[in-house]
Amino acid sequence: MADAEIGLIGLGVMGSNLALNIAEKGNRIAVFNRTTARTVAFHKDAGALKDMIVPCETIEALAAAIRPPRPVIIMVQAGAAVDEQIAHLRGVFSANDIIIDAGNANFRDTMRRFKELEGSGLTFIGMGVSGGEEGARHGPSIMVGGAEASWKRVEKVLTSISAKFDGEPCAAWLGTDGAGHFVKTIHNGIEYADMQMIAEIYGILRDGLGMAPKEIAQVFGKWNKGRLDSYLIEITAKVLEADDPKTGKPMVDMILDRAGQKGTGKWSVIEAQQLGIPATAIEAAVAARVISSLKDERIAAEKAYGNGGVTPFTGSRQEVLADLESALFAGKIAAYAQGFAVMAGASKEFNWNLPMPTIAKIWRAGCIIRSQFLGTLAKAFSGGPVPNLLMAPAFIEMMKEAHPGLRRIVARAAEAGLPTPALSSALGYFDSYRLGRGTSNVIQAQRDFFGAHGFERIDVSGAHHGPWGSGAA
Ligand code: 6PG
Repeated sequence: MADAEIGLIGLGVMGSNLALNIAEKGNRIAVFNRTTARTVAFHKDAGALKDMIVPCETIEALAAAIRPPRPVIIMVQAGAAVDEQIAHLRGVFSANDIIIDAGNANFRDTMRRFKELEGSGLTFIGMGVSGGEEGARHGPSIMVGGAEASWKRVEKVLTSISAKFDGEPCAAWLGTDGAGHFVKTIHNGIEYADMQMIAEIYGILRDGLGMAPKEIAQVFGKWNKGRLDSYLIEITAKVLEADDPKTGKPMVDMILDRAGQKGTGKWSVIEAQQLGIPATAIEAAVAARVISSLKDERIAAEKAYGNGGVTPFTGSRQEVLADLESALFAGKIAAYAQGFAVMAGASKEFNWNLPMPTIAKIWRAGCIIRSQFLGTLAKAFSGGPVPNLLMAPAFIEMMKEAHPGLRRIVARAAEAGLPTPALSSALGYFDSYRLGRGTSNVIQAQRDFFGAHGFERIDVSGAHHGPWGSGAA
């Protein structure tokens, strides 16, 4: 009987949790997994939710179980597996049915898939889901891209399973085709910057102030009660508290300093470059992960150069701690300003009309970057359009107060030989952005000298050349 509200293909960790969440919120769901044993086991283990789940052994059975027009979520590994799945569904599903890709797809693939499905009658939704395993099970943040009519068909289910902030669902339709996956990509780019800046501050606390993990945990715990209140700060405090069951030592001290990445940070940076929008803090965060992976080279370089340049931070610990808190806050403002500027650029480029206040709102709960800060940001955007977050009145005030701390920390860290690539990039971005008379007059003169590219003058309009004489182009 076609009475399931929605279908789901792919009962891996994220798919299973999403399916249980959907069932728990009162939506009947049909599920299918390539390996039938997995489908059977999933259904068997669903406990009280069993009656809300229709286990299907074939795609045909899945299609027959869903109420038309039939929405089906595919939760398989991003890339070729998604294309294979879509090809399979095309033979079974029919006009007006909706394929929803809920993986971390590259939005350019999502755009291509939209094009490929055009004229087939099937519609497509590219859906960003954030919040990890826990979020998928109990309430993720959901970023939807696709035709508005397709969204209307699934809005009830998706808002029922999403996280809620003050009762408002953290799920929204953000625009056509790749809008949802693009916004999820930038969410992850910002996530990279947030995480890297936290790691840099941890580095200063560890190597500059000589603090032990549990002491650092207390610092983050305290900051989490103030304006830095966020999921990432909260879990960092928890991570630093934990001991390794095997050795009894602090867990973080036993973890290799080599970070992985699956691609969304890199995509954010590539797209920022394509759009011509600086996203330097995000870029620095991605690069920092790459450098972290060069463990052997780093060990050899430390031998070659020594780390004798590292000098501990001296002076009042209270003052340094206050500056570190400000540095993290100011760095965060710059990173979010960059992420939102990239989204504004993409919105224009792809005619999405991305609703910035809504994006900030659906990130307030459920997702990895959820924080008090996003509430402030949502309010700032609701005050009308600004060319950059740094120009929103509330942010001008906050940045004025916080940037001196960032400046002192970056300067002291540089002197001490402690790396702060993301914090430094954030500061460089801010200082360049707020400088009315910059230094690219020299760039223009150089370009004109070697390539006769011309320059604008400050006093007369039009293109001009300099008096470079012989040797110049
Ligand atoms: C989320 C996370 C999620 C995932 C990323 C991590 O929003 O729930 O961002 O999408 O954890 O894939 O990315 P890396 O493996 O690249 O760090």
